This record gives sequence, C-alpha cells and structure tokens, in this order.
Amino acid sequence: MFSVAHPAPTASGLPLYADLLGQAKALLAGERDATANAANLASLVFHTLPDLNWAGFYWMKDGGLVLGPFQGRPACVRIALGKGVCGTAAAARRTVIVPDVHAFPGHIACDSASASEVVVPVVKDGRLLGVLDLDSPRPARFGDEDAQGLEALVADFVDATDFP
Ligand code: SME
Repeated sequence: MFSVAHPAPTASGLPLYADLLGQAKALLAGERDATANAANLASLVFHTLPDLNWAGFYWMKDGGLVLGPFQGRPACVRIALGKGVCGTAAAARRTVIVPDVHAFPGHIACDSASASEVVVPVVKDGRLLGVLDLDSPRPARFGDEDAQGLEALVADFVDATDFP
C-alpha cells in the first residue's frame, strides 16, 4: 500500500476536482473582493488542472463580455453575447464543452495552441455575471466530469465573493 499527498489525475477526474474544490475554498476564505478571488481562482485552476493553455474569466459589462483575470497568453478583450464559445455559453447560461474548437462555428481563436475548450457561466441570484473559460492544447480535453467539477467550483466562488 502507498499513499500520496495530492490525488493524481485519474480517468474519472473526480479526486482531482475534490482536491481542487478544497483548495479553492481555502484560498477564497476570508476575502470577498471579486478581482482578488477571480485572479486567485484562475491561477489555481491553471496550475492544478493538467493540459491547459488558458484559464480565466470574462465579465458581463454593458451587454457584452469583457476580459477579466486570467492565466495564459494575452486574449481577445471583448466578446459579444452569443458570439464564440464564451458568448454562446453566456447567452444560454449553460456550460458548453467544445471537443474541437476548429469545428465550432464562430469560435474566437485567441491562442492558436487551443484545440478544445469548456466555458461555464457565472450566475449569482439569477444575474449573469460572466463566464469561466478554460482552453486546452489537447483535443477533447474536457468531459462531463470537468463540467460538473467546474460548475461546483464556480458555485463556491460565487458564494464566497461580492460582485459590484
Ligand atoms: N475561444 C473563446 C475566446 C476566448 S479565448 O479562448 C481565451 C471563444 O470562442 O469564445
């Protein structure tokens, strides 16, 4: 028998998300500033989940999405509601998984390394605040367990944070 300090990524991904959720709760505890919490969460996700080249937020402002805290290469700043993967997830208020970004009509390419993507809406008390966007250089990187894990993460983030 052996034990490890941090669960390794597995086929199911569940131990990894349980670990990520625990780390996020600890990281956000005691601070409710939206910029600080979003910046730290983007960093935690980027450095914890394997095979990512971008992780971060877009915020709803003046009827469109505007770039927020992120980790990765510089990205496009404004995305209209309904456009790209982010605008699609925001408009529908549901998580969108794209196994092959090149096959997604209207995909907005910010980093040519991106091959697959998942976008989770950030909603608080019925108000659409923005989205959490993750990109991967690996095709079909994201599945249902990622969607569930990331939705739980966003729910914790929303509960732990005050938004202007
Ligand atoms: N690919 C996204 C744009 C944002 S970048 O991936 C960081 C989209 O199609 O909405």
